[in-house]
Amino acid sequence: MSKELIESILTEERFEELYVAIDANIGRKGPLMPTLHAAQNIFGAIPYEVQKVISERMNVPLAEIYGVVTFYSRFSLVPKGEFVVSVCLGTACYVKGSQNIIDEIEKIIDVKVGNTSPDGKFTLEATRCIGACGLAPVMTVGEEVYGRVELSDVSTIMAKYL
Ligand code: FES
Repeated sequence: MSKELIESILTEERFEELYVAIDANIGRKGPLMPTLHAAQNIFGAIPYEVQKVISERMNVPLAEIYGVVTFYSRFSLVPKGEFVVSVCLGTACYVKGSQNIIDEIEKIIDVKVGNTSPDGKFTLEATRCIGACGLAPVMTVGEEVYGRVELSDVSTIMAKYL
């Protein structure tokens, strides 16, 4: 993951917005989740630097914040790319070869699963079952869903986004 990509989201203005969100939530019951939601929206991710500010300002242990951020998939530690490419590794998709699809995508976009390209264009993710097993193997690019993907389809699909 490119360090520059994380640094690029950590702007002064965004931290100002974060302080406002923290102060707005701090008197509420269960203030951490709404604050983390706000942080994810403001920065597009909740990296260590943002967790640290939340921890200090809210007096919540950093380990607790890290635990919550890594537990919920709606939160991310690093900014996602312009196109999030997800391949299902649930059982139905896996037995139909979704691991090979991931390997092929890694080669095409030169990004390892779980990472974002240095130019911020692609994030490649492996997901659990997304509830479309009848279409296995399934991959998505942004909001677009591709089902019954053959290995030979992958380069055509990805060519639309390159
Ligand atoms: S296992 Fe892939 S959609 Fe269910």
